[in-house]
Amino acid sequence: MKSLVGNPTVELTTDKTVFDVITSSIKSSDQEEPFIVADLADIVYKFKLWKLKMPRVEPFYAVKCNDAPTVLHLLAALGTGFDCASKNEIESVLSIGVEPERIIYANPCKTRGFIRHAANVGVKMMTFDNEMELHKVKAHHPDAELVIRIRVDDSSSICQLGVKFGCNVKDVPHLLQVAKELDLNVIGVSFHVGSNCQDSGAYSSAIVSCRHIFDIAEDIGYHMDFLDIGGGFPGFKGPYVSFEEICNVVAESLDEHFPPESGVRIIAEPGRYFVASAFTLCTNIIAKRETFSEDGEPICMYYVNDGVYGSFNCLMFDHAEVEPIPLVDPKYRPVVKSSIWGPTCDSLDCIMKTCDLPSLNVSEWMMFENMGAYTISAASTFNGFQKPEMRCILPLHVMKYLQSLPTWANLLEAFGDQVLDFSNANVSTDCDITNGNTDNIHLLPHRESVSA
Ligand SMILES: Cc1ncc(COP(=O)(O)O)c(C=O)c1O
Repeated sequence: MKSLVGNPTVELTTDKTVFDVITSSIKSSDQEEPFIVADLADIVYKFKLWKLKMPRVEPFYAVKCNDAPTVLHLLAALGTGFDCASKNEIESVLSIGVEPERIIYANPCKTRGFIRHAANVGVKMMTFDNEMELHKVKAHHPDAELVIRIRVDDSSSICQLGVKFGCNVKDVPHLLQVAKELDLNVIGVSFHVGSNCQDSGAYSSAIVSCRHIFDIAEDIGYHMDFLDIGGGFPGFKGPYVSFEEICNVVAESLDEHFPPESGVRIIAEPGRYFVASAFTLCTNIIAKRETFSEDGEPICMYYVNDGVYGSFNCLMFDHAEVEPIPLVDPKYRPVVKSSIWGPTCDSLDCIMKTCDLPSLNVSEWMMFENMGAYTISAASTFNGFQKPEMRCILPLHVMKYLQSLPTWANLLEAFGDQVLDFSNANVSTDCDITNGNTDNIHLLPHRESVSA
């Protein structure tokens, strides 16, 4: 069992919130670098909510979304599977003790050496969407359990994937014929409605298409028993479709087209759902320029120490929208037209072109919520700026729940001595949401409570 490399500080506390950790950190004169506070309880609640709302669907967490070792350890202990897209992702997940059967290699266009690696380490489930891939799999992993990825309507998703992956439904019979001729084992169908899906109907239409493909496959001689409904589930409460609404639509559609008695195993590949709301990023103002906009309006340019080449790559690659929350008491501060920039020497490194902020000073802090998805996993250290360090919160009542799991010993080893100190703590509460109360899944308190 590999312990966490660069193990973040896991703060164990009954009463400290994310904001308590933030406020105590920024009050320290030593703190100048950007940092993330990850609320592990938020991830645990998300897991429990998933189990409550979609008990028939096994979550296989999409590692690409956030590959922080702590996140992987926690989800592994909770019992999720993993969606990996490369040899390294597979290695990371195997190295924390996850069995190869709990991994789906969900990249329809794979490097040949990576296919051989999957075969060597026992990862069998993998997706494909083209004929060449079938020949590659035949040559390098003939025992693979193949899942055909189809293209579905992703027009209502913020990040559309159909332009790159997924075969058209009309091409499925030919691909299955080829697979049959190659004597390959095709076990089922997968789709992805696009990341950050805004319309629950996209899932139901896609599930109908899958039913159709199961029927076609039967005629070709494949009795499929595996359905992968992909990702796209929202990571925080936003203005669009809720997770609960998607669950209702998915559950209804599955019951109609893939009822329990069909014996079909159903998985999903959620990424942002598990991690987005758990991460809060704090950045320090390293420089400030007071100037005028092109229309002659005064504008404050703030330079902070994380940017588009770092955690805010989500602005480009994930079409994310972020909201700065100044960690100051806004009283007695005039509101000023402002822009926010990252620390590098590139003018593309702009976090917000224009926003209204209370007048701020160098050395003060801004926080950004919902920064767990597609942020640190794609961040670079361009220009020599380091990625933010990470602190984790694990409230005792959530740890008590984790202690009840058979996998607790693995987590204990991963989290290190700090958990050990508290492992026998007597805690009376638990984090049971099985009564349907999901109010506390977004644990961040109201931002009014924040002042440095
Ligand atoms: C194949 C695959 N599965 C799952 C995901 C995760 O999607 P999300 O984070 O929207 O749940 C992605 C994201 O790009 C993906 O490409």
